[in-house]
Amino acid sequence: MSRWLVTGGAGFIGSHFVRTALGEGWVDKLAVVDALTYAGNLENLEPVRKHAGFAFHKVDITDGQALAPVFGDGVDAVFHFAAESHVDRSIDSAAAFVQTNVGGTQVLLDVARARGVGRFVHVSTDEVYGSLALGSTERFTETSPIEPTSPYAASKAASDHLALAAQRTHGLDVVITRCTNNYGPYQFPEKFLPLFITNAFEHKALPLYGDGLNVRDWIHVEDHVRAIRLAFDKGKSGEVYNFGGECERANKDLARAICQATHVPTDLIQPVVDRKAHDRRYAIDATKSKRELGFRAGPPIEERLDALVGWYRDHRGWWERIKQGAYRDYYERMYSVRGTT
Ligand code: NAD
Ligand code: DAU
Repeated sequence: MSRWLVTGGAGFIGSHFVRTALGEGWVDKLAVVDALTYAGNLENLEPVRKHAGFAFHKVDITDGQALAPVFGDGVDAVFHFAAESHVDRSIDSAAAFVQTNVGGTQVLLDVARARGVGRFVHVSTDEVYGSLALGSTERFTETSPIEPTSPYAASKAASDHLALAAQRTHGLDVVITRCTNNYGPYQFPEKFLPLFITNAFEHKALPLYGDGLNVRDWIHVEDHVRAIRLAFDKGKSGEVYNFGGECERANKDLARAICQATHVPTDLIQPVVDRKAHDRRYAIDATKSKRELGFRAGPPIEERLDALVGWYRDHRGWWERIKQGAYRDYYERMYSVRGTT
C-alpha cells in the first residue's frame, strides 16, 4: 500500500495536488499536514474529505514533535508545499517566511530522514533566480545563479539549499521543482489574478503596480501538479527541474484581458505605487524537464481565462468568506498606502 504525506495541502497548489492524487488514484493513503494559516482553507479539501485514503493533521511544520507521529508507520514520499507564499507580505514582515520556509523545511527534512522517507519532493519557485531584463530573450535554466530579490524568494532559495544539503550530506532522496506563476481555482485572492477577478466582480479598483509592464510566465495549476508527479516518478535524486507555461505576459495586458472577461471597463484598472524591488520579468527554460521527464506546457492562459473567471463567478461564497475576514484589514493595510482603497 502506497502512502504519501503532503504539507501545505490546504493551500492553493497543495490542495490541487491532493484532489488530483486521490481523485485519480495516484496513491492509496494520503495525509495532509497543514497549520491552517490565513492561506490554508479546509473548504479546498472538501471534495476529498470523505475519501477512505485521506487524513488531515493540523500541524505546524516547525514543530518537530508534533510532526513525527504524523509519519505513522512510515511514508513513501513527502510532497512539500507548505510555505508562506506571498511576496508583498514578506516585504511587510519577513519573520514568518524565515520561520516556515527555512526553519520549517529543515525540521521536515530532519523528520523525513529519521523516518526513512523514500523520496522528498521539494516544491520551489522560479523566483529564486531573481529578475530578468524586459525585452531580453534570456530564460532561467536550472544552473542560473540563485539571486533572489524579495524576502520570500530568499527564504525559498535557502530552503532549496537545505534540501540539497540533506541529499548531499545525508543521502536523503530529494528532488526540487521550480515553477513559474500558477493560476487556477482556489487561489487565495491576495494574488494578482484572483484579486483582479474578484475585485472586478465587486466593481472595485484593480490595483496595477508601477507601470504594469512587469512580465510573469503563467502556468495552469493543473499542469504544475502533473509536472510535480513527473518529477516524483522520473526525477533524479539531487536534481532541480524547472517548469513554466511558455506564456510570458505583461501584467497590464492580463489586467485588460480580465476586464474583458468580467465585462468591466478598463478604467477600473488603477495604477498604484509599485512593489519594492519589483522583479521585472520571469521566464523559465524547461528544456531539461522536457528532455528528462517528458514535461510539456499546456495551452496558453487566453484559452483558459473564461473558465478561470467562470470558476470564481460560480464560487462566490468561497472568496467572499475569505474577503470578509482578516483579509479586510490586510487589504486596507497593504493597499491604502498604495492609494487604492
Ligand atoms: P498558499 O499560500 O496558497 O498555501 C500555503 C499552505 O501552506 C497553506 O495551506 C498554509 O496553511 C500552509 N502553511 C503555511 N505555513 C505553514 C506551516 N508553518 N506549517 C504547516 N503548514 C503551513 O501557497 P501556494 O501558492 O499553494 O504555494 C505552494 C507552494 O508552491 C509554496 O511552497 C510556493 O513557494 C510554491 N510555488 C508557488 C507558486 C505560485 O504561483 N503560487 C509558483 C511556484 C512555486
Ligand atoms: O513565480 C512564482 C511565484 O509567483 C510564486 O513563487 C509565489 O508564491 C507567487 O505568489 C507568485 O509571485 P508573484 O509576486 O509573481 O505573484 P503576485 O500574484 O503577487 O503578482 C504577480 C504580478 O502582479 C507581479 O508582477 C505583481 C503584480 N501585482 C500583484 C498584485 C497582488 C499587481 O500589479 N497588483 C497586485 O495587487
